[in-house]
Amino acid sequence: MVSIVIGAQWGDEGKGKIVDLLSKKSDYTVRFHGGNNAGHTVINKYGTFKMHLIPSGIFSSRAVIANGVVLDLPTLIQEMTDLKKAGIKLKKRLFISQRCHLIMPYHRILDKILDEAKGSRKTATTGRGIGPVHSDKVSYNGIRITDLLNKPIFEEKLGVALTVKNKVIKALGEKELDFKEINKQFSEYGEIIKPYITETYTLLNNAIKQNKNILFEGAHGIFLDNDWGTYPFVSASSILPSNIAQGAGVNPKYLKNIIAVAKAYATRVDNGECPVPTEITGELGNFIREKGHEYGATTGRPRRIAWFDVELLKFAKEITGFNQLAVTKIDMLTNLPKIKLCTGYRLNGKKINYIDVDAEALRKVTPIYEEFDSWSQDLSKIRKYQNLPRNAKKYIERIEKLVGVKAKYISVGAEREATIIR
Ligand code: IMP
Repeated sequence: MVSIVIGAQWGDEGKGKIVDLLSKKSDYTVRFHGGNNAGHTVINKYGTFKMHLIPSGIFSSRAVIANGVVLDLPTLIQEMTDLKKAGIKLKKRLFISQRCHLIMPYHRILDKILDEAKGSRKTATTGRGIGPVHSDKVSYNGIRITDLLNKPIFEEKLGVALTVKNKVIKALGEKELDFKEINKQFSEYGEIIKPYITETYTLLNNAIKQNKNILFEGAHGIFLDNDWGTYPFVSASSILPSNIAQGAGVNPKYLKNIIAVAKAYATRVDNGECPVPTEITGELGNFIREKGHEYGATTGRPRRIAWFDVELLKFAKEITGFNQLAVTKIDMLTNLPKIKLCTGYRLNGKKINYIDVDAEALRKVTPIYEEFDSWSQDLSKIRKYQNLPRNAKKYIERIEKLVGVKAKYISVGAEREATIIR
């Protein structure tokens, strides 16, 4: 059976935890897009891990980094070292596609320069070189793992890239990069990862033929999708489930479960540039941020806090076709004076939908809210839905009714076990 976990907001929905839970029944967990801009937190018996590139399922299943992932090799190698230290075996359990594009040192520099140049309209990227590596990929200037394993080709491609990039880097006031140094570093990285490299297309399609359980791990969230998110405050890849075709060579017709993960409120990491219609500012926002430890897993930046937005979730459902919902961090809403749920938007007095407006108009919409009472009970030990406080059930059931999908997973705490499964 083939399933996928996707984020239904702006990332940081708690996908890592749900993947960690579901991967117990998976043979393979697969990353198929994005890079180390993602940060999936996993807390289990091996410890606490912030996974950026290796699928969060590595603790229970084999892990595949498919061709759609852009790879930052120092980050990957660090993650491999940390996992080995924690006692996780990687030999014959970690597979990396030879088609993955490499994030090169110039991508990180260009990411910073290009984003800063946009001033107050910047995307506030994670600075990991994600936009520039994708630009090189689609303009046929990328360097892939397969090139890394072929020394003359790698050197030729690196030489061409540096000739062009160094001119730009120098013109924009940064220090030029040294061919020899990068060549040496990357040749060492190549030796370390060589045993894990394979054609993951064949691996995954053979696994499908053998009826294995495959779990795709989406990174980021739908509203960071390059086409359908809040452009230009988005990331560079496609976040849709159908992208498993491009990003892993797996036909989306095999997908049985599309599990959307949404936090019981919403968050967005940037410096305030992206429109977030339901943002909670002031004391209450700060309170939820501290209580929920809402700081970016990748950059450590404080996340902006917002009320749950059904308008966005309905769009996410239409475009992804998700048939299961996981609601995470419901315990963070305990003891709030009131809980608000956004059911739609108005612009200039008229009801409008997310898809009707661009990011600039989205700044001007007024959310339509319903209000709910909170509860005071500690939820962290609850494992059965019927034991949740009445008000928590009321809130969840209203979301389910408006979105039209049942919340199969409700997360009431950080650990793998702290989940209600219905
Ligand atoms: P980039 O992906 O580093 O280019 O960043 C583009 C935008 O997406 C920035 O606003 C980031 O904060 C945001 N972003 C990228 N990946 C994630 C993620 O995994 N979680 C939350 N925000 C992300």
